[in-house]
Amino acid sequence: MQKDLTRLLHDPNLIPSEKQNLLSKIASQAESLGMPCYVVGGFVRDLLLGQPINDLDIVVEGDAIALGKSLVEKYGGKLTPHYKFHTAIWYLPSREAFTLDPSSLDLITARSETYSRPGALPTVKPSTIDDDLLRRDFTINAMAIRLDGDHFGELLDPLDGRSDLEKKTIRVLHPRSFIDDPTRIFRAIRYEQRYSFILHPSSFILVNPESLAVLQALSGERIRHELDLIFDEDNSPQMIVRLGKLDVFKWIHPELPAFNESHSDYLEMDTRLDVPASRITMGFILWLMDLTEAAILSIARRLDFTSDLTHAVWGASQLKKSLPFLVNSAPSVWVYALEKLPLLSIYTVYLVSREKALLDYLSFWRHVKPGTTGNDLKMRGLEPGPRYGEILTALRAAWLDGTIRSNEEEMEMLNRLL
Ligand code: CTP
Repeated sequence: MQKDLTRLLHDPNLIPSEKQNLLSKIASQAESLGMPCYVVGGFVRDLLLGQPINDLDIVVEGDAIALGKSLVEKYGGKLTPHYKFHTAIWYLPSREAFTLDPSSLDLITARSETYSRPGALPTVKPSTIDDDLLRRDFTINAMAIRLDGDHFGELLDPLDGRSDLEKKTIRVLHPRSFIDDPTRIFRAIRYEQRYSFILHPSSFILVNPESLAVLQALSGERIRHELDLIFDEDNSPQMIVRLGKLDVFKWIHPELPAFNESHSDYLEMDTRLDVPASRITMGFILWLMDLTEAAILSIARRLDFTSDLTHAVWGASQLKKSLPFLVNSAPSVWVYALEKLPLLSIYTVYLVSREKALLDYLSFWRHVKPGTTGNDLKMRGLEPGPRYGEILTALRAAWLDGTIRSNEEEMEMLNRLL
């Protein structure tokens, strides 16, 4: 087993060699301080699944801040300690050896957690690696691999996470898990759909009114963070649909609807259109745009949307509702209606409506500008004032609608307007 894991830990397809390098530096520094050092959580899960690892989740039995300080002393960089949580962020020195993305990493002291009430943020206390694994969400996330000295490659798996990985099962560690932290319901569904696993029946029955009710007390920010993580995943439509089927949303906001399954394919963007892409924003637009304005604004408040996200969802919803009135309008009328809306809102409404004018706007119309500028008007002796905007708008509308087709025609029109 240890040999097995040693091989995986040295596989450059799973862990890029610069990350391996960094891990071995951290491990030997921890060893020199007498601190057992582990990679944990998602790192171990993905490594055992033979998938490339993303974050370096490092835990030490001992003072992670002291470890961070000694790493900075030896290799440079900067440390931000969080004394309350016994953690530190190490901003890596900008040397060639550390060309890593991201360029910082968390150093964590093994800890136990207690919850003062359902849904509260946990109170943490330094402890052993065993306690640290016992505080976690699912067995598949409750494994550690030791990195220091001769222990390199030892697996700690007190809850049989490896066997659950093999059985493709997601299992909580104790019956109160979802009550302590109902964001784990979102996490369970995320892993289930990401890896095509099954939430074990004994855990599935814990997604019930008792745990779901705790969602009501959770901050909008915490819930939205989970939804953001979901919309950022490849299988996000399946995840959000599944959460709807589990009747999760009504506990967050009474008007939060099920995700329209027929919108599932729209989360892939056509990058040729030069529209700033965001799967997360598109996810929320597709999910909420058919609601009333009042419902959208109320959900945006509950989920602590940024003003940009609120504007994107609201804009798409307004546009979709006004499409019947805009159909067959002149291009300049479309442009007038669309210009103040976020491009992603327009693009998303195009995807669900296939209204060609929206595509024309995104591809051409929005770029149409008259040759004449404000400066030209000034040179022609026009007093600064609202006339500038009116003239430039009229020229642009004429180009858009095909009333003028050449610079000469633009000049003629300008002469008439002045
Ligand atoms: N964790 C937990 N309960 C939570 C959030 C996190 O127990 N509500 C633990 C899990 O052990 C998880 C680890 O903290 O593995 C790190 O959390 P995170 O970085 O969010 O997840 P990853 O496991 O890295 O998974 P992902 O691939 O989704 O990022």
